[in-house]
Amino acid sequence: MVTGGAVRIGRAICEALAGAGLNVIVHYRTSAAEAETLVADLERRGVQAWALAADLTSEAACNDLVRRAVAVAGRIDILINNAAVFHKDSLCATTGAGLLAEFWPNLFAPLLLMRALAQQSAGGKIVNLLDRRIAGHDASCVPYVLAKKALADLTQLAALELAPRFTVNGVAPGAVLPPPGRGADYLLDHAGPVPLQKQVSPADVAAAVLALLQNDVVTGQILFVDGGQHLL
Ligand SMILES: NC(=O)c1ccc[n+]([C@@H]2O[C@H](COP(=O)([O-])OP(=O)(O)OC[C@H]3O[C@@H](n4cnc5c(N)ncnc54)[C@H](OP(=O)(O)O)[C@@H]3O)[C@@H](O)[C@H]2O)c1
Repeated sequence: MVTGGAVRIGRAICEALAGAGLNVIVHYRTSAAEAETLVADLERRGVQAWALAADLTSEAACNDLVRRAVAVAGRIDILINNAAVFHKDSLCATTGAGLLAEFWPNLFAPLLLMRALAQQSAGGKIVNLLDRRIAGHDASCVPYVLAKKALADLTQLAALELAPRFTVNGVAPGAVLPPPGRGADYLLDHAGPVPLQKQVSPADVAAAVLALLQNDVVTGQILFVDGGQHLL
């Protein structure tokens, strides 16, 4: 199951999973048409696929998504916590409501989905989508960075607690796509220097997710897919 899997990086991950012969549950919140198109496309490739909607901003919604996913697919072997929001807010611009709006999809939902999966599944693999900003102090998006840093720590806490049944790893992309609604020039203006001088693609991120899924002895790792930007 890939959360936020209908569009953008999540869609590339769904396509990579299907390419590896895996059945895919495409979770979405608002992108219903894209999710249905993707499901049809994946099924044409010979795997089973399902689209499930949920707004992951409550404990009940997270538990219910896992319950419905198991009901349609039989079981969940792999959870990719990809759904997220990204807002630019400095410390002084942060409000209580804004903090919660950022923390729910970016941190609380991944935690609750991992817990629900651990409670209902014999074992499997989990990958959390992080951000190369966890290696620095980008003060332009404080709630987002805090949530992703906490998710990175949670990835390692979960790797310990859920062993030996699950591997739990993180993938930390650099700038891949501009935020929804922003043009390609946004990346040029905001991405900053990249040592490898290469643009990271959604397929690059999906390939890193797949590599972690294909390994049975790697857990608690965070794989930066950012052209080396986290080193600066
Ligand atoms: N884009 C980048 O360059 C970049 C860089 C570093 C890290 N990342 C990380 O990589 C992952 C994918 O990035 P992305 O840019 O492709 O993500 P995105 O487009 O910002 O978000 C992915 C999906 O998350 C879903 N979502 C948002 N809020 C939700 C909620 N309350 N409940 C349920 N679903 C919700 C939305 O699904 P619907 O469309 O169905 O509403 C959205 O399309 C994210 O975790 C992001 O933080 C991305």
